[in-house]
Amino acid sequence: MELIDGKILANTIKDEIAAEVDQLKSAGSKVPHLAAVLVGEDPASQAYVRNKVKSCERVGFDSTLIRRPADTTQAELLEIVDQLNKDDNIDGFIVQLPLPDHIDEDEVTLAIDPKKDVDGFHPVNFGRMAQGLSCYIPATPFGILQMLRRLDIPTQGKEVVVIGRSNIVGTPISILLSRKAEIGNSTVTLCHSRTQNLKEHVLRADIIIAAIGRPNFVTADMVKEGAVIIDVGINRVDDASRKRGYRLVGDVDFEAVAPKSSFITPVPGGVGQLTVVALLLNTLKACKKEVYG
Ligand code: GUN
Repeated sequence: MELIDGKILANTIKDEIAAEVDQLKSAGSKVPHLAAVLVGEDPASQAYVRNKVKSCERVGFDSTLIRRPADTTQAELLEIVDQLNKDDNIDGFIVQLPLPDHIDEDEVTLAIDPKKDVDGFHPVNFGRMAQGLSCYIPATPFGILQMLRRLDIPTQGKEVVVIGRSNIVGTPISILLSRKAEIGNSTVTLCHSRTQNLKEHVLRADIIIAAIGRPNFVTADMVKEGAVIIDVGINRVDDASRKRGYRLVGDVDFEAVAPKSSFITPVPGGVGQLTVVALLLNTLKACKKEVYG
């Protein structure tokens, strides 16, 4: 069993990005600039956005954080998106999800200029991804692809079982890994809440990607000996022994599953680390106008 250290991988890629930013600076070119919009006080979202801004500083990007209260109206948020679309200084931006209930997330996502949609959530980017055209790949799937590539984990012809069909992880990663590509050409099964005989499907998998948001959902009896385990879940479970009163666990019963696996990602310190890196890579692409010219 090999533990995949997301932090080491992420730091390697951040060093590469920082070196490229240095080159841009030396050449007198524009430095990548990411903006993040955070509405409300959701503690997890605040932590994620803090991490994104900190990572920008780490690699030498400019960043702008726009914070608004939870009672911000739809119209006010759309105005912010419009300003960011028009601001030539901003290469890419994200609106952190989830948004408060009174805001229509789909309308906000649609308002983002696809050229600046470094989250890859706009249907134009999603459609381009599905057709294998150049696009911004959503951060978590992009992070998983980086992980598989850099660890030389073969995907060609492999059985991949994805558990969870969200728009931001399960559905895009299942599309990406089934496409004709170096990290792809897998036979992908996408399992979800209505899947019958889930265990039978998962037991076939050479690579399991768990993205359902349920703590310890994947148990050892569901896993084939030697499988690669990519755990995307980040779940808070009560833990009175911790100062914060909770700890983070994935969707996989790590202790029981790890001994059966060939590679496994921990939570925390696994996929989450690569997700932020993927956002940086997309922002670099935006600055260099690599996706849309
Ligand atoms: N909420 C959870 N993950 C993400 C993400 O990748 N981007 C944004 N904007 N919100 C999120």
